[in-house]
Amino acid sequence: MKTLKVALLGGVAFLPASAMAAEMNLICSADVVICEKLVSAFEESHADIDVNMVRLSSGEAYAKIRAEARNPQTDLWWGGTGDPHLQAGQDGLTAEYKSPMLEQLQPWAQGQAETSEYRTVGVYSGALGWGYNTDILKEKGIEPPMCWADLLNPALKGEIQIADPNSSGTAYTALATLVQLMGEDEAFDFLKKMHANVSQYTKSGSAPVKAAARGETGLGIVFQHDAVSQAVAGFPIGVVAPCEGTGYEIGSMSLVEGGQNPDEAKVFYDWVLTPEVQGLMPEAGSFQIPSNASATAPKEAPDLSTIKLIDYDFGEYGSAERRKALLSRWDDEIGSLPLQ
Ligand code: F6P
Repeated sequence: MKTLKVALLGGVAFLPASAMAAEMNLICSADVVICEKLVSAFEESHADIDVNMVRLSSGEAYAKIRAEARNPQTDLWWGGTGDPHLQAGQDGLTAEYKSPMLEQLQPWAQGQAETSEYRTVGVYSGALGWGYNTDILKEKGIEPPMCWADLLNPALKGEIQIADPNSSGTAYTALATLVQLMGEDEAFDFLKKMHANVSQYTKSGSAPVKAAARGETGLGIVFQHDAVSQAVAGFPIGVVAPCEGTGYEIGSMSLVEGGQNPDEAKVFYDWVLTPEVQGLMPEAGSFQIPSNASATAPKEAPDLSTIKLIDYDFGEYGSAERRKALLSRWDDEIGSLPLQ
């Protein structure tokens, strides 16, 4: 707990800051290291506001905000893929806010705000792909997969991990990407075939490549920046941008409708969109492309201009109707299959 020094006659007393400070409740849906870094940097520069933070994957964060709709406990939701932020906006769970920082943002980040009628905004971006353990694949004599189609190679049996798209925005982005690349029936057919190679559907989106880094699995389907983080940390991870093309995220931020601390939440909202704060991300091993046009993209960040990106339809795949239908089809046709 933070303490404040209070000068008293004859000595110094320490009072808990929470007795004095305002507070706000934050859900953070990016990597826990950057979540904690943002909270401590904010509290250092805003001694009058305490932040209570919980880290949840994107789909879990959406479910929490939905469950709290009648009595919101959360004020601000930072990070996580844009689709559930857009769905929350459409459901009226998040509030309209036009930050004074908006005009400093990249067109894709402003576009996200426009799509949601200003109920969310883009904070970073990054492309989907996978990371593979170079040692494991070499030992097993498996050619590194460079295309989505290569993930069906029977030699990869038990070597693939990907998250569950209900909890994870990464895995939902993968599902929506395959649907946009192949067509819906073909994408589910592909996922059924790939299931034969999957050992686990994790809760968090980046867990599969962390497992690959530790040598627990051969390959994790993740955002490329999460694979880069493991490679930069020294693990034997190769990063792949699939040859057929791939989807990407607009990581987003939303103010919760009816939150109890809207003024404090707006202070954090505006602060976290500044180039200086976005510049903290690489120090925490987070290599997304920042949304403030004056922020410098980390040199390690996968260069989106060299990756074959699909024209991801954020409006459609973030709509409540489409997201609900795809997740329910995934539960029926993929999540219900026994793991080998
Ligand atoms: O680890 C960082 C990150 O990949 C973000 O770029 C992304 O928004 C978030 O995690 C998605 O996490 P999850 O798939 O667990 O919802």
